[in-house]
Amino acid sequence: MTRVAELFQSMDYGPAPESDAEARAWLAAHEATFGHFVAGKWTTPGKTFAVIDPSTNAPLAKVTQGTVSDVEAAVKAARGACGKWAKLTPHQRARHLYALARMVQKHARLFAVLESMDNGKPIRETRDLDIPLVARHFYHHAGWAQLLPTEFLGYGPVGVVGQIIPWNFPLLMLAWKVAPALAAGNTVVLKPAEFTPLSALLFAELAAQAGLPAGVLNIVTGDGATGAALVSHPGVDKIAFTGSTEVGKIIRKATAGSGKKLSLELGGKSPFIVYEDADLDAVVEGVVDAIWFNQGQVCCAGSRLLVQEGIHDRLIEKLRARMETLRVGRPLDKGIDMGAIVAPEQLERIRALCAQGEVEGATRYQATSAVPSTGCFFPPTLFTNVSPASTIAQVEIFGPVMVAMTFRTPEESVALANNTVYGLAASLWTENINLALDIAPKLKAGVVWVNATNLFDAAAGFGGYRESGFGREGGKEGMWEYLLPEGATRASEATVRRAREEKRATARAPETPREPVLSPIEQVDRTAKLFIGGKQARPDSGYSRAILDLKGRIVGEAGEGNRKDLRNAVEAAHAAAKGWATSTGHLRAQILYYIGENLSARADEFAARLRTMTGASGREATREVEQSIECCFAYAAWADKWDGAVHQVPFRGVAIAMQEPIGVVGVVAPSEPPLLGFVSMIAPLIATGNTVVAIPSEAHPLAATDLYTVFESSDLPGGVVNIVTGASEVLGQVLAEHDDVEAFWFMGTEAGRRTMELASAGNMKRTFCRITPRDGSVPDDMRALLREATQVKNIWVPYGA
Ligand code: NAI
Repeated sequence: MTRVAELFQSMDYGPAPESDAEARAWLAAHEATFGHFVAGKWTTPGKTFAVIDPSTNAPLAKVTQGTVSDVEAAVKAARGACGKWAKLTPHQRARHLYALARMVQKHARLFAVLESMDNGKPIRETRDLDIPLVARHFYHHAGWAQLLPTEFLGYGPVGVVGQIIPWNFPLLMLAWKVAPALAAGNTVVLKPAEFTPLSALLFAELAAQAGLPAGVLNIVTGDGATGAALVSHPGVDKIAFTGSTEVGKIIRKATAGSGKKLSLELGGKSPFIVYEDADLDAVVEGVVDAIWFNQGQVCCAGSRLLVQEGIHDRLIEKLRARMETLRVGRPLDKGIDMGAIVAPEQLERIRALCAQGEVEGATRYQATSAVPSTGCFFPPTLFTNVSPASTIAQVEIFGPVMVAMTFRTPEESVALANNTVYGLAASLWTENINLALDIAPKLKAGVVWVNATNLFDAAAGFGGYRESGFGREGGKEGMWEYLLPEGATRASEATVRRAREEKRATARAPETPREPVLSPIEQVDRTAKLFIGGKQARPDSGYSRAILDLKGRIVGEAGEGNRKDLRNAVEAAHAAAKGWATSTGHLRAQILYYIGENLSARADEFAARLRTMTGASGREATREVEQSIECCFAYAAWADKWDGAVHQVPFRGVAIAMQEPIGVVGVVAPSEPPLLGFVSMIAPLIATGNTVVAIPSEAHPLAATDLYTVFESSDLPGGVVNIVTGASEVLGQVLAEHDDVEAFWFMGTEAGRRTMELASAGNMKRTFCRITPRDGSVPDDMRALLREATQVKNIWVPYGA
């Protein structure tokens, strides 16, 4: 007789297909051909393209390629709905979001099946993860809609939001974007990915049935060209994008100078770090979730396995054994682990990158279990012998491909983990809590999971550092992306622009500085030099520029900085960055107070200098100095209070949201007011642990150069603030382009803003660029500046039972 143990050996899974009848009935009801969903109704289908089921390559439906006029109609509908939607009471909007959450739950099975058919991901995942999380996002944001007036006091919607999403989590990405946008009172035009538009169309139709007012959510389908039309549409006030870094850069450039708010969630090459004391069986399951979940098509996939040398062989052996048990098959089969890759072109890309890995000397291991012979399938894959500089270690593969490398010490693990242009997520595995919490702050990543991976929740922000983009989705931090201070709409910016033009006509001082008068710096002279690494430095050019008063008389000279001076300044700022970022808020507060105090001691001298340079009255000059002192005190006050949060997530854990400095920040201060404008830009940055390379007012730089001695006598460590004088927009552009500058702040002209935002696209640095208002006033919402000066890192740690 056969024994039970033997039966277990020979037992196999039978097929367990989920029915696709309901989804097919929905498609059939639309004759499998769709227009856009605009102003609460379907448009007549235009020129269409096919949407396929990637597990069979069979066509599922035809959707319309959105044209410029389709985008126009959708933006018009969203604009038309804007006023009424924003005027609903927070409670009324909350009820709509709640209705959407209930609607998703009610139709969960239909959504799960349709998503699985369209994307190729296993029904197990859409049913247990994607769709429940979609509902969770609408519930969570129904809450923010309700709490808006108290929790976001003084803030209102941005207006019409254009959203462009990728194909890897089609409905979940919709929820991440639509829920906060609507909660904040915006209206939306969303373009789903061309591979996976169906669940967004179903959502819009059901949302209308659930009572969402017409025009509040509009869906326009199409490819990149449709996306580009949405990005460049002048009636759109904000763009939120998730997708490749390559397209993120295009969008950054396309929106430069437009005043559109922008958030970008881009690619990643996230490290999965295993220390020698980790629980290896848990690690193996972690790797399965990190890279074989959703066929590895996850922006934050732990795709680089970094293993401490001593346990490498043992872990690889365990992983290979586990890979053999992963089942790849039809997405609607409830018993499979991995489904299909989204489209033939993505499959080709994965194949090509794997072939490249072998050419570059890595060893490929693939599970021997069968993969369906038709459709877009790719087996779980593991590369060993991977060199950290090789293509597969650096490029986002976006497939079920793990690349393994080793390290010897924790320091080496951090260096290896951060050896990427990206900074989206990281996962670290150790039984030593001290080690985990020592490493987490050192990782350049927006999300860190301790002994876990790929955990997401609506209450915790998600988003990247570096070329993984900027902005957060989820949690309170994500809501800010869809809000503006009341009255600070793009329309009000137009008012600023007009006011500026008026001011130009009646200017006290020439707006555009006249041709600078340059002269060589003598050996012994009284020219204000540059301030680099805590020392006064002669400019590389050897020239100084004459600083004139209103009547054109020379009141002093300032060094004429150039590209080389900026390079030195950036280097000095980096040298100071680590120490300053890890110093305590208390220390930074003390130093800012001290700067304020020392400025106060020399208030008369500073006021006199301002009067001479700018022609300000005695009262005006004294007031500017007083405000600058107050600004130092105010940010000193904040330095030890800009706390993070602990998000309660529905797991056995918490997400610790830490406010981290961005790093080295380039600053172009406004022309006027020269002292207050300068101080109010650098103070929030240094209060939060950034180091700065600042270009002071071009017309009146001596207000800033006089600060050198204040800094020196206030214990400000060398390199925390570096100052380079000269032609501010020319120097600003160099800083905006610089790959080692991590964020960039600018106050100046409209043309200058465009130039700077364009230049910043190289390394996707986060920018904060404003047109200087008429009265030269600097932004006074300190919390807004502190948010700009920091980025939130969410560290998920096990907590509680
Ligand atoms: P993609 O970035 O081209 O597409 C994402 C979305 O952007 C789609 O809706 C697309 O239609 C739209 N789009 C494309 N060009 C546009 C433009 N010029 N202006 C506005 N919208 C535009 O990503 P794609 O081609 O689907 O995938 C290519 C690679 O990108 C993948 O292999 C993967 O490495 C990466 N990727 C990363 C994602 C992430 O979440 N990090 C998501 C999707 C792709």
